[in-house]
Amino acid sequence: MDVFHHIKSIRLAISEAKAAGKKVGFVPTMGNLHDAHLALVEQAQQLSDVVVVSIFVNRLQFGLNEDWDRYPRTMEQDIVKLTSIGCDYLFHPEEVEVYPNGMDEQTRVIVPSMTNVLCGSSRPGHFEGVTTVVSKLFNIVQPDLAIFGNKDYQQLAIIRRMVEDLCMPVEIIAGDIVREKDGLAMSSRNSFITEQERPRANQLHRSLSWICDQVKEGNRDFLKLEGEAKSQIEKAGFRPDYVTISNSKTLEPAAHDDLEITVLGAMYTQNARLIDNLSLDLYTEEKAVRG
Ligand code: PAF
Repeated sequence: MDVFHHIKSIRLAISEAKAAGKKVGFVPTMGNLHDAHLALVEQAQQLSDVVVVSIFVNRLQFGLNEDWDRYPRTMEQDIVKLTSIGCDYLFHPEEVEVYPNGMDEQTRVIVPSMTNVLCGSSRPGHFEGVTTVVSKLFNIVQPDLAIFGNKDYQQLAIIRRMVEDLCMPVEIIAGDIVREKDGLAMSSRNSFITEQERPRANQLHRSLSWICDQVKEGNRDFLKLEGEAKSQIEKAGFRPDYVTISNSKTLEPAAHDDLEITVLGAMYTQNARLIDNLSLDLYTEEKAVRG
C-alpha cells in the first residue's frame, strides 16, 4: 500500500490510475480501524479497481467539549490492517495540509436540512465540519464512488443530499452496520466503554430493536415507544440523548402512515456517546405477511 501525506502526490497517483482507465473507490475514515471499516474497504474493492482510504481526525467536526484530543489514533495498526486486505492507497494528511488557511478562515459547506436534528442538536456544528471535510476530500481524491457506514445514518443522508445539491460526480454507497455478537454496533468509540458497562452496552440496540418489533406488530404510538425505549436505556444505567422514529428519507419525525421508517438513537456511557439505528421497510413487511 502506498501512503501519501500530501495532496499533490495523491492527486498524481490517482490521475495516473484514472488515465489507465481505473475506477477509483474511496473510504474516508478517522482511523482506529476495526472490522466495520475493513468491510467498507472490501466493499469498495468489489466495486472499483483502485481503493483509497483516508485517515484524518477532523477537528472541524468536533465541538469544543468533545473528544478530539482523546480520539484513538492507531496509525501503525491501521496501516497493518489496510495492507493485510490489499488496500491500494492511504491518504493521511497533517491538519495544515487540509486547512492551510486555518479552520476559522475555512470556506464551509452547509447542508441546511437534516443537520440540526438528532445528533446535530446535541453536536452543533458537527455536520458542517463533516460536509466541509468530505467536500475537500472529494475534491482531492476525485473518486468515482465513496462508501460510508450506515451506522452514521444521519451523516450518510446529509452527504447524499450535499452530493445531490452540489452536483458532485460521486456515487455514494452505504455499507452495512457491523455488529459485535451481542448486537453492539462496532465503533471506534467502543474502546471508551468501561469493562463494567460493556455487558450492558448493547442496550441501545436492544431498545431500538424493541421499537421495531412493536411497530411491526402495529403499534403506532411513536412518542410512547420513544419514551419507553429511553426508560429502558436509563434502567440499564446509561443516559439517553435521543431515541427517534423518523422518516427514512427526510429524518423528520415519522408520520403514522410512513412505510419507510428508521429508528435512531444515541446514548451516553461514562466516557462515550454511542449511536445506532435500524431501518424498517413496512411496505415489504406487509407484502411478506400478505404473501
Ligand atoms: O465517519 C467518519 O469517520 C467521519 O465523519 C468522516 C466521514 C471520515 C469525515 O471526517
